Amino acid sequence: MTAVLDRSQPGPNPEPTTRTTWHRRRVWNGFTPLQLAVIVLATIAPLVITGSIGAALLGVISTEQMIETALGAGENPGLVVFGAMFLASPVQWLTGRTQVRVRKYLGIVFFLLALSNAAMFVLEVGAGAMLSAPFLVAGTIALVLSAPLFATSSRRSQRWMGMKRWRLLHKATYLIAAALLAHVVMLGEFGFGETMIAAGFVARIPAVRRWLTARGDR
Ligand code: HEM
Repeated sequence: MTAVLDRSQPGPNPEPTTRTTWHRRRVWNGFTPLQLAVIVLATIAPLVITGSIGAALLGVISTEQMIETALGAGENPGLVVFGAMFLASPVQWLTGRTQVRVRKYLGIVFFLLALSNAAMFVLEVGAGAMLSAPFLVAGTIALVLSAPLFATSSRRSQRWMGMKRWRLLHKATYLIAAALLAHVVMLGEFGFGETMIAAGFVARIPAVRRWLTARGDR
């Protein structure tokens, strides 16, 4: 709800009224339409991967087709999901509205996509090749670092660790972001997901963060 001045009212001091803009309305389970759209979009890739694994198990598609489909659904979508998660805090500063639940969901989806990428890679060429090139080392680092964050994503973990230690551990997100950028830049890629991650770093520059927060405070 945003308090706005109703300028249609006569008199020098119009009464403030309340107006709910469509994108701020909570339409389901406390989520706004935009948050729901992000959640639905992020769910597509895991569904495609699960479907392709199921189809391969049923013999509808070959293992090669499953690997190709799962990698296609995990690589660029995985990067975009991570980018969206990395941008959740800047969006929070800008809108003044908590994005914690969306960020948590995106983090979980990202880890599952990363795990799927690694599993498909291992199925295709074997675990021994995981560290056989610098870009693969970077991808593996991103996966390994995201495992403890995934394991401690619950409220119970926050209580168990204490918020200070939990926040410190979750700073590993920056290392994951850097490792992911290295993974793809070494492949000569720089697309949408990479731009989102780079934007996440820019937004964290103190002056930029202050500017975003000040806009959010308006
Ligand atoms: C941690 C999450 C990961 C994400 C988000 C990710 C994302 C990506 C992206 C966006 C690409 C470029 C895809 C394209 O050109 O269309 C890529 C390529 C690749 N990734 Fe990853 N990756 C991850 C982890 C891994 C891991 C753990 C491995 C294996 C150790 C791996 C192996 C590869 C390989 C071999 C390619 C090149 C594929 C090709 O030549 O088409 N990735 N990855």
